[in-house]
Amino acid sequence: MTSDALRRAAERLRGAERINVLTGAGVSAASGIPTFRGGNGLWNKVRAETLATPEAFANDPRLVWEWYDWRRGMIAKASPNPAHDVLARWTRERPGFTLVTQNVDGLHERAGTERLVRLHGSIWRVRCWQACARGRNDWEDLTVPQPRLPPACPHCGGLVRPAVVWFGESLDPADIAAATAACRCDVFLTIGTSAIVYPAAGLIHHAKRHGAFTIEINPDETEASGSVDLAIKGRAEEVLVQLGVG
Ligand code: OAD
Repeated sequence: MTSDALRRAAERLRGAERINVLTGAGVSAASGIPTFRGGNGLWNKVRAETLATPEAFANDPRLVWEWYDWRRGMIAKASPNPAHDVLARWTRERPGFTLVTQNVDGLHERAGTERLVRLHGSIWRVRCWQACARGRNDWEDLTVPQPRLPPACPHCGGLVRPAVVWFGESLDPADIAAATAACRCDVFLTIGTSAIVYPAAGLIHHAKRHGAFTIEINPDETEASGSVDLAIKGRAEEVLVQLGVG
């Protein structure tokens, strides 16, 4: 990371009225939560299709829940890191700041983030798999570990599922609309995401088309590195603190 890149980014952020940030798993790496891709990535150990699709759940709900129960246990022990804290402070102090996340871990919320769009849902919410009348809308469930796997719907006795977006499922149209609207901004930051999964990754290009200055913060090269205006090579929890933008 060069001080010149940091200086340029800080200047842009200071002068911006509307800022939108897209975050991915890398933002939670310093909290001890594994990312999906890369060296120790979750998808190197297990195949996404066997755990994060509706077909996988229909086939073996207990196996899918064991994996989510394990992740919930790990996340429950984790705390927000300085990257979450800086971003949360920006949302509180700057009215034109929006945070769009692909993360389901809830750490942005725990850091006190305002105006958060959760594109992929939350690992702390569940809903009825059969979409029964009273269980169709998701509700919070913080129980770790679950006393029974798979957990039963309290309304109909059927299965409940994590209220996250699985591969092959659509994002909530309201979330897409909010995230897309937030792309009409002066500065767009993409932080800690491999920028591979759409539609989230498309937001970067959308913002650029609307004239935003685009900045990436990531220690590694990503799909977006070649198309952003400024790529800062570094860890989110270090770069965001060093930016020092109030
Ligand atoms: P990935 O695991 O694909 O990418 C994580 C990114 O974080 C990589 O580009 C790393 O280089 C970067 N990274 C690692 N440590 C970092 C740090 N300390 N600071 C900054 N960056 C760091 O995670 P996502 O891009 O979030 O979807 O993955 C997108 C979606 O794919 C996820 O939401 C999930 C997954 O399958 C669903 O579950 C639907």
